[in-house]
Amino acid sequence: LSKKKSHFTFLCDYYFDGKGKAIRPMIVVLMARALNIHSNRSGDLLPGQRAIAMITEMIHTASLVHDDVIDGSDRRRGKRTINEVWGEKKAILAGDFILSAASMALARIGNITVVKVLSQVIEDLVRGEFMQLGSKENENERFKHYLEKTFKKTASLIANSCKAVSILVNSDPDIHEIAYEYGKNVGIAFQLVDDVLDFTSGANNLGKPSAADLKLGLATGPVLFACQQFPELHAMIMRRFSSNGDVDRAWQYVIQSDGVEQTSFLAKRYCQEAIRQISMLRPSPERDALIRLTEMVLTRDK
Ligand SMILES: *[C@@H]1O[C@H](CO)[C@@H](O)[C@H](O)[C@H]1NC(C)=O
Ligand SMILES: *[C@@H]1O[C@H](CO)[C@@H](O)[C@H](O)[C@H]1NC(C)=O
Repeated sequence: LSKKKSHFTFLCDYYFDGKGKAIRPMIVVLMARALNIHSNRSGDLLPGQRAIAMITEMIHTASLVHDDVIDGSDRRRGKRTINEVWGEKKAILAGDFILSAASMALARIGNITVVKVLSQVIEDLVRGEFMQLGSKENENERFKHYLEKTFKKTASLIANSCKAVSILVNSDPDIHEIAYEYGKNVGIAFQLVDDVLDFTSGANNLGKPSAADLKLGLATGPVLFACQQFPELHAMIMRRFSSNGDVDRAWQYVIQSDGVEQTSFLAKRYCQEAIRQISMLRPSPERDALIRLTEMVLTRDK
């Protein structure tokens, strides 16, 4: 290894420390096994499917590194972020480096359809990030915009990774669709729950939820639902909670509203759709694990 490479590798290894939940590769591996069994094979992963699970986590990690720069975050999972330790320029390059390694691994699989499906994810991540920078005046449009952003920033990766492992084992487009729809619905539910936890968790350490999204100027599900009951929120959403006291007042409105319950209910509906889709596969322990996983997505508290 050259010195330059090991410097980069050090930066990038910083996040691959095994402390994450690794929920994405877990879904991809379970999906691959369930699909292999459905296709009358053994559940054993094909080499390309194993590579896809790894690439999924690499793309995810690169997006976290870039997100932390965009949000100016100084901590993630209790550790200082790369931008905090080495500065923004190196953090952006580190994210790019991880993406380039993922692209090489993707090319090595040697299937142009799989390359296309996973490249879509990277486009979606960028478009989703752009969508998050803008706000919509109209309330109906705003909710649609939020769900579309959620799909692009979170669910596209899981949906297309599930589709990619299905392409390698089965030529039936209906099966690709089942894999994609499961990943899409679980992915959206996962993010909706994340948005709820931003209001409800953290109460254990400082006694006060973090409301990190509000501080970043972001109106997520709970705020958008609360806005239907408290139109006062509209102006705050439009100025991205930038006036003095906006974050605290918006937080109060959300807590007084049923925005948290409604967002949780919506997450549940996405999980039900995920279960409906995956249930079309032949029964296997892996398929059933994917069904139970939707329950874990809904009940997790951190
Ligand atoms: C698997 O085997 C069953 C029973 O032999 C058959 O009906 C089904 O079409 C096969 N599925 C695939 C994907 O080959
Ligand atoms: C991708 O892999 C699948 C499964 O082996 C195969 O049927 C398909 O033809 C491949 N596509 C390309 C473009 O290589």
